[in-house]
Amino acid sequence: MRPSIPLLTSLFSAVILAEDAVHKTKVVILGAGLTGVTAAKALALERNIADFIIVEALPEVGGRLKPTSIGGYPIEIGANWVQGLGTNPIWALAQKYNVTNAFSDWENIDYFDGGGYDFDGKLGEAFDRYEEQAIVNATKISDLRQERGQVDLNFRAGLNLAGWVAKTPYEKTAEYFEFDWEYAEPPVQSSFIQNINSFIYNFDGFGNSSNNFVFDKRGFRMIAQGQADEIPNLAEKILYNETVTTIAYSKDGVIVTTADNTTIEADFALCTFSIGVLQNTDVTFEPGLPDWKKDAIANFHMATYMKIFVQFPSKFWNDTEFSVYADPDERGYYAVWQSFDVEKFYPGSNLLMVTLTSEQAYQAELQTEQEVIDACMAVLRTMYGAGIPSPIEIVIPRWTLDPLFRGTFTNWGAGATVEQQNAIRAPLPDPDMPNPQSQRLFFAGEGTSRKYFGYLQGAYYEGRLASAVIADCAENECLTSEKTAYSKREILGEKEGLEKRAYVGGGLRSRHFA
Ligand SMILES: Cc1cc2nc3c(=O)[nH]c(=O)nc-3n(C[C@H](O)[C@H](O)[C@H](O)COP(=O)(O)OP(=O)(O)OC[C@H]3O[C@@H](n4cnc5c(N)ncnc54)[C@H](O)[C@@H]3O)c2cc1C
Ligand SMILES: *[C@@H]1O[C@H](CO)[C@@H](O)[C@H](O)[C@H]1NC(C)=O
Ligand SMILES: *[C@@H]1O[C@H](CO)[C@@H](O)[C@H](O)[C@H]1NC(C)=O
Ligand SMILES: *[C@@H]1O[C@H](CO)[C@@H](O)[C@H](O)[C@H]1NC(C)=O
Ligand SMILES: *[C@@H]1O[C@H](CO)[C@@H](O)[C@H](O)[C@H]1NC(C)=O
Ligand SMILES: *[C@@H]1O[C@H](CO)[C@@H](O)[C@H](O)[C@H]1NC(C)=O
Ligand SMILES: *[C@@H]1O[C@H](CO)[C@@H](O)[C@H](O)[C@H]1NC(C)=O
Repeated sequence: MRPSIPLLTSLFSAVILAEDAVHKTKVVILGAGLTGVTAAKALALERNIADFIIVEALPEVGGRLKPTSIGGYPIEIGANWVQGLGTNPIWALAQKYNVTNAFSDWENIDYFDGGGYDFDGKLGEAFDRYEEQAIVNATKISDLRQERGQVDLNFRAGLNLAGWVAKTPYEKTAEYFEFDWEYAEPPVQSSFIQNINSFIYNFDGFGNSSNNFVFDKRGFRMIAQGQADEIPNLAEKILYNETVTTIAYSKDGVIVTTADNTTIEADFALCTFSIGVLQNTDVTFEPGLPDWKKDAIANFHMATYMKIFVQFPSKFWNDTEFSVYADPDERGYYAVWQSFDVEKFYPGSNLLMVTLTSEQAYQAELQTEQEVIDACMAVLRTMYGAGIPSPIEIVIPRWTLDPLFRGTFTNWGAGATVEQQNAIRAPLPDPDMPNPQSQRLFFAGEGTSRKYFGYLQGAYYEGRLASAVIADCAENECLTSEKTAYSKREILGEKEGLEKRAYVGGGLRSRHFA
């Protein structure tokens, strides 16, 4: 709670200010994204721990759940899909808070290439071959490698073993849509086994492999806001507009300092900042993070998934949901266009969205608005002809440049191990036996989720896990970090281990037929 507060709470704030903004609490939660809010709600309502404070740099909860608008239409520059319906907890939250959404039909595609509309269907053919052969074969190979305990490979190598070698612009584009457009990095940089598993956990694991697109005027952030609003006395427990600069930890507790010199002293802290933030120097840890944790953080990838929204004075495309463009020269260049101007989303909106990932996103983030518009228009003119109108409005997110995020979500990099991911989550100062009772600083976020890294469900499950582990540590005893990693999951509704699965085949486009 900061200055400029309504009357009813001003007495409380005066006390805080008089004490020169020093707060003392049992648990401080750093970050009010879905992980932090979910952890806070579980502490309050499931563990009956009321003595906690949430610290957030932004003036609101939600983090990477980030609504804005274009031409009066609500859009999401962050998370946008509920990916996997069925028993996905995010699907339950979306329904609980009545978040508007509709089925996103990844099969409903028009194909384009350097000559415009892809009349002879080369691109569609490449898509079918990737889905019906390459990814089916790759999944079997990945499962077999796990059964045999063979080392992981990069995804490019996995595809190669599956008989898929992308040579033509069509094959490269099909692969881009199926892989990069989901994981935001190219196959060669990505783990083979973990990304195959991710596909299955997120899309098939919840029993319904459909995925729905959210478009709600209150924003997808309602799944965070709704949970936050259930926390009793939330206003007294959350400090907005406070950017953490230093996290000092010892076996006695944690002292957090913010940019305006507010300090929070706590017995326990939960850091939910993104792996991108941890990879940078925006936050100082005292003492510095141990080498085993630094290695692990460095070896994971904070990928970038950049959704650019463009509104036109009129609609010059037809009613398909997706238009995929195979650039003759550069793989994935402005390849995936999505129309909001369809009956189930925003008919009459004249609104398109194009997604850039990885290097193309980094480059575009550094460009001016006009340069991005020019790049969009050059591709759209190739697709639809020279006569199309210029845009009237554009929204260009720049996630990688934002010191509160430093990218969009975690991709499991080639060569990163399960042990390293456990090491990112492992608490400090001393995660090793014999004395787990010295744990004070905990870590959680989408990036610490073994099965759901990169997704909202990862943030949700990791927030719940962290709250249970911290509550145990505060009330009873702390588990060794090895046990902390997974033993609590079953009771939290998340099963660990590779379930036996009947793989039904198909790539992204055909997930909902599974
Ligand atoms: C473009 C994009 C598309 C995505 N698409 C999907 C999707 O379709 N489906 C899906 O399931 N997931 C998607 N995701 C991933 C999803 O958004 C994340 O997994 C999830 O929101 C992460 O939540 P979190 O709480 O772990 O982290 P965050 O949301 O990053 O929360 C961390 C919080 O810490 C705050 N913070 C950071 N540094 C500081 C500091 N120094 N001081 C104080 N506060 C600080 C931040 O402001 C933030 O609020 C997408 C993400 C992006 C960005
Ligand atoms: C946080 O800052 C915003 C401006 O960015 C302001 O509108 C809001 O009142 C502030 N909130 C608090 C709690 O200080
Ligand atoms: C849910 O949202 C829809 C559309 O936004 C609205 O018509 C409906 O009344 C809402 N239902 C509830 C229970 O809030
Ligand atoms: C996938 O495997 C099948 C049989 O196992 C094989 O016939 C097919 O050629 C393979 N696909 C590719 C793309 O190599
Ligand atoms: C998946 O869930 C959606 C939304 O509830 C539903 O419309 C669809 O029929 C389900 N699909 C399957 C295969 O159960
Ligand atoms: C914070 O405190 C330090 C040292 O005590 C001081 O140098 C700095 O100016 C203070 N910053 C603010 C924003 O008050
Ligand atoms: C979609 O638009 C293209 C040209 O942009 C056109 O050639 C094609 O026939 C259209 N498809 C449908 C189904 O209308």
